[in-house]
Formats: sequence, C-alpha cells, structure tokens
Amino acid sequence: MGLVTAVGLANTGKDVICIDNNPEKIEQIKKGHLPIYEPGLEELLIKNLARIEATSDSKAAVWDSDVIFIAVGTPFNGEQIDLSYLKQAAKEIGNALKQSNGYKTIVVKSTVIPGTTLDVVRPIVLRQSGKTDDEIGFAMNPEFLREGNAVEDFMFPDRIVLGVTSGRVENTLRAVYSGFTRTEILITNPTTAEMIKYTANSFLALTISYANEIARICEKLIEVDSEEVFRGVIMDKRISPIINGKRITPGIASYLRAGIGFGGSCFPKDVKALEAYSNSIKVDGKLLSGLLYINETQLMHVFQTGLEKHKGKVKQITILGTAFKPDTDDIRESPGIRLAELALENSINVAVHDYIAINNTKKHFGDKVEYFEEPLEAIRTSDIVFVTTIWPQYQLITDEDFEKNLKKDAILVDTRSHFKERSDKPWRYRIGVSR
Ligand code: UGA
Repeated sequence: MGLVTAVGLANTGKDVICIDNNPEKIEQIKKGHLPIYEPGLEELLIKNLARIEATSDSKAAVWDSDVIFIAVGTPFNGEQIDLSYLKQAAKEIGNALKQSNGYKTIVVKSTVIPGTTLDVVRPIVLRQSGKTDDEIGFAMNPEFLREGNAVEDFMFPDRIVLGVTSGRVENTLRAVYSGFTRTEILITNPTTAEMIKYTANSFLALTISYANEIARICEKLIEVDSEEVFRGVIMDKRISPIINGKRITPGIASYLRAGIGFGGSCFPKDVKALEAYSNSIKVDGKLLSGLLYINETQLMHVFQTGLEKHKGKVKQITILGTAFKPDTDDIRESPGIRLAELALENSINVAVHDYIAINNTKKHFGDKVEYFEEPLEAIRTSDIVFVTTIWPQYQLITDEDFEKNLKKDAILVDTRSHFKERSDKPWRYRIGVSR
C-alpha cells in the first residue's frame, strides 16, 4: 500500500521519498524492481523513477518532506490490533522533526482502530519532537486499494477520505491529491475516517459470510442453487438500479456468492481488530463475531463437504490456487493454504498448484506438500481436487481435460462457483448447491 501510494502520487507529478527499514527493499525500489507482485506497478515505478527516491535514512527524508504518510503494517496479534510498528514510526518521525523547520503534516494511512491518529500517533510525535499543533498537523487518510487491482484503484479512486484536524491540513492534503480532479473527496475528522475504513471492510466481509450462511441452508434443500437465489436478490432495484431500461450490476454482487470464505491481509485482521475494539468499549458486537465464526467454520464445511462427497478413503487432495485471490502472490490467510493445512493435520497428502504464489507457498510449507507447475499434473493422483482461487486460467481447462486427468472416483470441489456456467458432472460439486 505504501509503495502503490508513493508510485501513484509520483505519477501525478509529486516528488516522493519512500522510507523503509529493510535495505534490500530500498535497493530494489531504486533499481525499479518490485519487492512484491502487483500488476502494472513495476511499469509505473520505472516510468516515475526520476521523481521517486528510496532510503532508510528517515531523518533526512522527513526533513525534506512537507507531508509524511505512515503506511506500516497493523497486524492482529491474537487479542487486539498490534500498533507497535505504528508507534515506532511515529517515534522516528517525532525524533526527526526535532531539528526540522517549517510546517509538517503527518498522515496515517495504515488501517487503525478509531482514536489512534489523535490519541496514539499525535501525542508520540509531539512529545518526541517537542513541537506543538501549530507546527505539525495530523490527518487520517484511509486507503481502499484491492491487491491485484491496486494500481487501477489508486489511479481511478471511487473516493478520497480525508480525516483532518484543521483547515490547513485539509488544504495541504487537497494539494497532495490535486491530480484527482474528478474524485469526490470526503472531509471529516480522523476518528471518523478510521471508522469508515473498518466499516467498509467489515461490510464486505459481512456480505461474504452472509452469502456463506445462506449457501449452507441452500445446500440442505432440494434442487436449490444459491447462485440463483442471490441473482434473484440482486435483482432488487435498490441493489441493482434500472437506469434507462438497463440494469446496473453492483460490484457488491460478486461478494454475495457461496465460497470458501474470505482471506487476505485485510479482512480477517480488520474485522478481528474491530471486534476486539468493540468489546473493549463494551459494545456487544454479535454481528462481527458471527461473521468471523461463519468464516472460520466455512473452511471446515468445505473440507467436510469434500470428504463426504468422496466415496472412498481420501489419501491425497489437490489445492488449485494458494493465492488468497487471483493476480496476487499473497498467501496471507489464504483459504487454499488453510485448507492444505487442515488436510495435513488429518494426515492427508497435499498437492498444490498456483500461477504466481508458488514461491511464497514453498516458503510456507517447505517439503510438507508437493508442488506442480501444471494444474492437470497436480490433480492426477488426488482423490479430491479443491479449486480455491479463481485464476481465470483454470477456466481454460475443459471438462474433457479434467475427465482425462482425474483419477477414477476422484471428485472436484468448486469452492468458488468458478465453473458455475458448466453443465453438471457426477464428479463435480459446487459449494452452495443442493446435491
Ligand atoms: C480489501 C478491500 O476490498 C479493499 O477495499 C481494501 O482497501 C483492502 O481490503 C484493504 O483494507 O487494504 P483485498 O483484501 O485486496 O481488499 O481484496 P478483496 O478483493 O476485497 O478480497 C478479500 C477477500 O474477499 C478475498 O478472500 C476474496 O477471495 C474475497 N472476495 C473478493 C470474494 O469472496 N468475492 C469477491 O468478489 C471479491
């Protein structure tokens, strides 16, 4: 997120300095190489390299900048949000600002629980720097990028949310985003901005869990396909308005779909952090805990569905897709990875395939699973094949190819309705359909 913001702002003509304490990453960025996989980002980095500096010297970088974005990770530590990286960054910025001149604006971009910008970052920076609110402004500017789509999401944002502490900070940030003349800007206070980010992510996660609970009911009925149920729901004109006789399908429709649950570096940690925060302020958040519960158990549900549908003993499974979603090499909280772990815990061998995430998968599993470069090779000796990531390339595999390569009595479990357009096959099961 930090790098996308840096490259994206540089692309609108701003001079940007990237700070990271990992010297390897800095060297890569200087050479125009990406430390991660993100479509289109490397090209944009190379195009804007003249405007982008990268350094581990935070002091000089902070001195030279008018606006400092904090984009460090805010993981969930099992009990609550872990703000240690954020506090460390605030401290470093504060120290650097001790001998600096001129007005500076500190912007929190990391996803943080409500109150963090004003009650955690601001006091640390002011204390360390010895400066006052007249010399340093604070803001919270959440990001709404999706991995795999980050460049497009940055270049064509649907909204810019600026949680600011003064008119001066607002004007500074409007100038930072001056390249986005067509985008609606929501000006608010930092705590509201923090809450907008959490509410947005938990709303999307809630939709996924809602779909999965409904799908589980559909599976128990006779001749009911949850896809059809959701289609009927989405036809409500309050969800998909009809304009000039044409129905507008909303983006949220793709989240309202039976599946294997959500993963990635954002939804799981953010919903857990909001739930923990809500408990800490004595709000009994049943919906948040419920949606997390459905997500946790959906994985087991999918696994058990496979075991039940397969008639014999299951010795090996194949996971088609270890990335948490297509177009990323990110395997954090990936359902494919978690399903593989579940199988290993049950003494079932695992074969895996992915188009981009295989190196990260190797780092994760070592020699505990078998790796394949071709999906059809990965399925040959398995009893159950789980399709866990909707890589478009899997769509190119025909049913004849599957039939030729699947072992006798093997089944395929489509955990993401990836093959919903195809005709029924006795060896294929789809989550969310009664059969
Ligand atoms: C998510 C949000 O969508 C972004 O708006 C937000 O900025 C980001 O978190 C963040 O907080 O940084 P991301 O995790 O990259 O972005 O990916 P999504 O595409 O939203 O996918 C999250 C999970 O939902 C994945 O497990 C994915 O498989 C699932 N999903 C996604 C669906 O089940 N259906 C979809 O149509 C899209």
